[in-house]
This record gives sequence, C-alpha cells and structure tokens, in this order.
Amino acid sequence: MTTTAPRRTESVPRLTAPPFAVISGAQVQQALQGREEEIVALVESAYRLHCAGESVNPPSYFLRFRDRPSARIIALPASIGGDVRVDGLKWISSFPENVPAGLPRASAVLILNDHDTGYPFACLESSIISATRTAALAASATDWLTRGRQSPARVGFFGVGLIARYIHTFLTCTGWSFDEIGVHDVSHDSAAGFRDYLERSGALGEITLHGTAEELIRSSDLILFATTAGQPHVSDPTWFDHNPLVLHVSLRDLAPEILLASTNVVDDVEHCLKASTSPHLAEQLTGNRDFLLGTLGDVMLRRVTIPADRPLIFSPFGLGVLDLTVGKFVYDEVVRTGELQVVDGFFHELRRYG
Ligand SMILES: NC(=O)c1ccc[n+]([C@@H]2O[C@H](COP(=O)([O-])OP(=O)(O)OC[C@H]3O[C@@H](n4cnc5c(N)ncnc54)[C@H](O)[C@@H]3O)[C@@H](O)[C@H]2O)c1
Repeated sequence: MTTTAPRRTESVPRLTAPPFAVISGAQVQQALQGREEEIVALVESAYRLHCAGESVNPPSYFLRFRDRPSARIIALPASIGGDVRVDGLKWISSFPENVPAGLPRASAVLILNDHDTGYPFACLESSIISATRTAALAASATDWLTRGRQSPARVGFFGVGLIARYIHTFLTCTGWSFDEIGVHDVSHDSAAGFRDYLERSGALGEITLHGTAEELIRSSDLILFATTAGQPHVSDPTWFDHNPLVLHVSLRDLAPEILLASTNVVDDVEHCLKASTSPHLAEQLTGNRDFLLGTLGDVMLRRVTIPADRPLIFSPFGLGVLDLTVGKFVYDEVVRTGELQVVDGFFHELRRYG
C-alpha cells in the first residue's frame, strides 16, 4: 500500500509584526497615579492567577559585578494568562551608590511580548511600575494579614527611600491611617527627607524619627523594612515581643533566629528561599522549611490560620508576573488615551527571502 503525504489545503492565518512602542516614565506615572485602589485589586488578581498556576515565572537571574560589589542587575522573565495574557521581561538595576550622588538606586525597563507572535511590542520605563506593584502587594498583604488581629495603630518605616514612600502612599490610599508614624534610617538625610514627604503628603499621626533600630521596632505594630542591607543587621528576637506585623520587603534585614521565633508568610516559596534572603538563611540554618506557615495565597484562600501570639513576618520576593500585569495596564491606558509613541519600522527584516 502506498501512502501519499496529505496536501495542506487549509490556509494558515497571516500574522503581522505588531508596532513597537516606547512608554516614558511620565506616561507610566500618569496612567497609574490616583488609581491606587484599582491597582491593588489588579495586582491581587494577578497574584491569585499566579497561585492558581496560570503563570510561568522562572527564577530571577542576578547579574553581579566583581568591581561593583554593591550593585546588581536582575532579569525577571515571566508570562501571565487570564485576561492579561502577555509575556515579557523586567530588567532592573540596583546601584545603591547612586543615592548619595543624587540619583535613584533602581532603574528599569519592562519589555512586553505579544502572546501570538512572541514579538516585543513595548518597552516601558519600569522603576515606577516596580515600585507600584511592590507597594500594591504590600497594601494587599497588610489588609489580609491584619484580619482577625488588632488593627495596627503605630507604623514604623525602617529604611526610607522610594519604596517606603510608595508603600506609605498605597497604605494611605487604601484607607490606612495611624496614630503614630516612626521613621528610622542609617542616613540622617533620608530620614529627614522622608519626614518632609510625610508632612507634605498631609499624613495624619505623630511623626517620630528614631535614632535606633530597637526604638523603632519596639514602638511599632506594623513595621516596614525597605533598606538596602545585604545581610542581617537586626538579630534580637526580644525586640519583637509585642508580636508586630512585619513587611520584610527588603528581604535581608532579619537574622534567621527572628524568623524562627515568628510566623512566616512569603509570596512564593521557591522564589523567596533563594539569593541569601532571610528565609533562605533560615532554611540553611534549620535544613528544612518548617518555619514557613505558607504563602499569601494560602492566607487569601484561608488554607492556613495565623496565630495571634507571635510576630508575623511577610517576605515578598517580588514576582515578574506582577510587573507584567501593571505594565500591560499602563500600555492599555496609553493606547486608550491615544498617546502611544510608536517607533516606525522598528521590525525591519520581515520578508524571509528578502
Ligand atoms: N521585595 C520586592 O518585591 C522589592 C521590590 C522593590 C524593591 N525592593 C527592595 O526595597 C529596598 C528599598 O528600595 P529603595 O528603592 O527604597 O532604596 P533606596 O536606596 O531609595 O532607600 C533605601 C534606604 O535604606 C537605608 N538603609 C540602608 N541600610 C540600612 C540599615 N541597615 N538600616 C536602616 N536604613 C538603612 C538607606 O540609607 C536608604 O535611605 C531595596 O532593598 C530593594 O531591593 C524589594
């Protein structure tokens, strides 16, 4: 019996390269500012999609340098499904030495790739997107992790740069106010600058600059770590005897002994237990992950119960899928307002044989 290869009669749909756009920081800020509640809901739904397995979020890749040990550039490739349906890459630099020279520490771009063709279709300024998604998840976590606990009346900001400012804004815009606001930073200029920002923002509550880490921690029910510390510098578990909620956004401030005396929640276990974060150090010290209660997703789905009689530490590694989601939101907004700036002819070699 002879067989003949079936002849392909169905027509293949034509695909075209999407236009390529560049979105500036000013456009990003315009798209996001004043919409904090909406962004918290957006980021929370993206995080839930991730928890439901509708994402691909491989480990972040850290580029470090022998001649600039405090600096790094991180690549976060990611893909998210659901209504967002976009792939992409966040490429974010951290150069802490920029700050004393008057330039922000972090700078970033986000590339969005088209779901059907894989073609990149936008490059967005992304330090604002990164700070926004970080602050939005912190606000969401504060909401979920304080349910069933006494509402925090005293907030303490430990390390007060751009991220602390964004988190304060997101907390305020999602309805939080505090009787007391504590501030601690190794840099007097940073502490004074943050106090100035708080005063200008009309923040309610008495503002106190604390000279020591112990003072700030002991006098706060909600503590936000947003330093640039590369290794633990807070190691006395008794400072946390009043069982505060700790948002450990900078990930490397706390000695593992403090985590072992606390309830620990992370955003994603595999991501967070890497790169010498405090949870990673706790795993290395104990040889297991028993110190973790679970993820924020487990809390949202009520799969875990948080004990009230221990400090509660949330360590969010930060997921590329959240940047993608906020980036796609910004892109759609810029398209909607008719202000998309396309680079004409960006993709050029489009005929296979010339
Ligand atoms: N987990 C996430 O998703 C996520 C996302 C974005 C940023 N971050 C982290 O947030 C941190 C803050 O970022 P930023 O842009 O606000 O940085 P920044 O440089 O603007 O501010 C950091 C501040 O921390 C202070 N500081 C450094 N070490 C300190 C210490 N030991 N004690 C007290 N203060 C100290 C510095 O003086 C500075 O004022 C960084 O570590 C960054 O990597 C985490």
